[in-house]
Parts: sequence; structure tokens; C-alpha cells
Amino acid sequence: MRRLYQENWFEITLSSFAEPSFFHLAEPDFYEQFYAKLFRAYDSWDALPQSWRTHKIILARWLARQAEEMTASLLVNHENRPLRVFSLGSGLGFVEYNFLKELPGVELHISEPSTIAMDWIRACIPPERIHIGAGLSVLPHDLRFDMIYLSGVDYFLRQHEFVQLLKELHPRLAQGGRLICLSGSFLEDDGLLSACAAACKNALYALLHFSGIRKRQFWGWLRSREEYLAAVREAGYEDIRDGRLEDETRTFWMSGE
Ligand SMILES: C[S@@+](CC[C@H](N)C(=O)[O-])C[C@H]1O[C@@H](n2cnc3c(N)ncnc32)[C@H](O)[C@@H]1O
Repeated sequence: MRRLYQENWFEITLSSFAEPSFFHLAEPDFYEQFYAKLFRAYDSWDALPQSWRTHKIILARWLARQAEEMTASLLVNHENRPLRVFSLGSGLGFVEYNFLKELPGVELHISEPSTIAMDWIRACIPPERIHIGAGLSVLPHDLRFDMIYLSGVDYFLRQHEFVQLLKELHPRLAQGGRLICLSGSFLEDDGLLSACAAACKNALYALLHFSGIRKRQFWGWLRSREEYLAAVREAGYEDIRDGRLEDETRTFWMSGE
């Protein structure tokens, strides 16, 4: 795991609306304030930065292909119900908007601690499938999913918290269901040389932060492939698979059942 700092998000400087902390993770009210600022800066999904949109559309289409494969292999159609999917930490819901464009018949549930973030996606998803809050207590206790995904969500969790979340999600999978984790914070190289370079960079960030020149928010952690796989194994998943998307971001994914 390697510490991750953020100065801007969606081209918004974080210090323009909050006091970034170099040591403490962003709290829910930080995200709330951020999304409030974002909705003042952008008036629709189409206005968001093009490279971000392109990346998220690629993720959504990839997830839709996974869901299609699951529909073919699961018995959901025979039970006369659509595939049920859950996205935890859906943020603005742009991945979900594009996922539903590909597969409008899927019963997609979303959750997000920030109510403001959901302003645009609300129009696309029935209110009973929108769950506001952090963690799983926001879900009806009897709801099981054929597919659960986390897209760019694990970064703010320590390893034991990530394992715990994966453990809690496991019994939420229906029979034959799969959990998918798409990394937005993949550590490509956790060798000694790269660790030294990162330590120097973070020391420079600290200097800039505490001298008030460029303030960065402690955002979370980057994880290596081994750390991702160790987490999903420890959480009790089986038939674990992983890979990289074939676009230029080469997003790391892993899944298990
Ligand atoms: C980087 S965004 C990813 C959003 C979206 N999944 C995507 O791929 O675009 C991470 C999201 O996790 C949400 N989040 C923060 N703490 C959370 C928690 N404890 N449980 C669930 N989501 C949380 C944040 O509000 C934020 O919207």
C-alpha cells in the first residue's frame, strides 16, 4: 500500500472549498462539499472532462459485458426476474448511467454516502433502488445480488477495512453471483526503487503543503495486485480472477464468488 494525495478532482482545486488534511482521510462532509461545488461548476454529465467520461464509459461497457455473461450462465431468466446488480460508492452515477444504456433491463441498485452526488442519476433509477449512506446497513437485509461491483472505491479503505467490506458483501451475493472490484488506485510497481521515489515525492508534497504553497488532501492508498488478491482471498471468495482492461488506462480488475 502506498499513500495517495489529491490536489484537484474534476479540475476543482480541493483547497478552494475545504482545508485539505495531509494526514486524515476526507470525511463524508468533505465529499458532500465537493459534490456541491462540482454541481456549481458543471451543469450535466456532458460538461464533465472528456477523458474522465471516456474512461468511465469504457468501465461501464466492460461491466455490462460481465453482466451479460452472467445472465447467460445464471438461472435468473428462468426465475423470471432480471439480473440484479449493486454498485457501492456510485458517486455521480456516470458508470451506472452508461451501464443502463447498455443493459436497460437490469435491476440496478446504487449506494453512495453523499446525497448531493446523486442529483443526476436520480432521473435514471427508481428511488427504491437508491440507497443513501455508507456501508451495507442502508440495504434491505434480504436483498441479494447477482453482481456487486466497486468502481474506484477501495482507495479510502485500509487493508483490514477493505477485507471487512468484502466479507460483508459476500453473503449479499445470490447463488452463483460475483463481486467485481475495478481499481482506480492501482500500484503498478511496488519495488524498492519506486517506493524510494514515492517517499521523496511525498516528502516534497509535505513541504509544499505545510508551507502553504500547494495543499493536498490525503486521499487513501494505492494497492498492488498482490494486495488486492490477498484481500479478496482473506474475505473468503472463491474462483478468483483478475486482469487488466484492454484500453489505454489498463484498469486492474478482480472478481470472485
Ligand atoms: C472515486 S469515487 C468513485 C465513484 C464511482 N464509483 C465511479 O467509479 O466513478 C468514490 C466514491 O466513494 C464514496 N464513498 C466515500 N466513503 C464511502 C463509504 N464509506 N462507503 C461507500 N462509499 C463511500 C465517495 O462519496 C465517492 O463518491
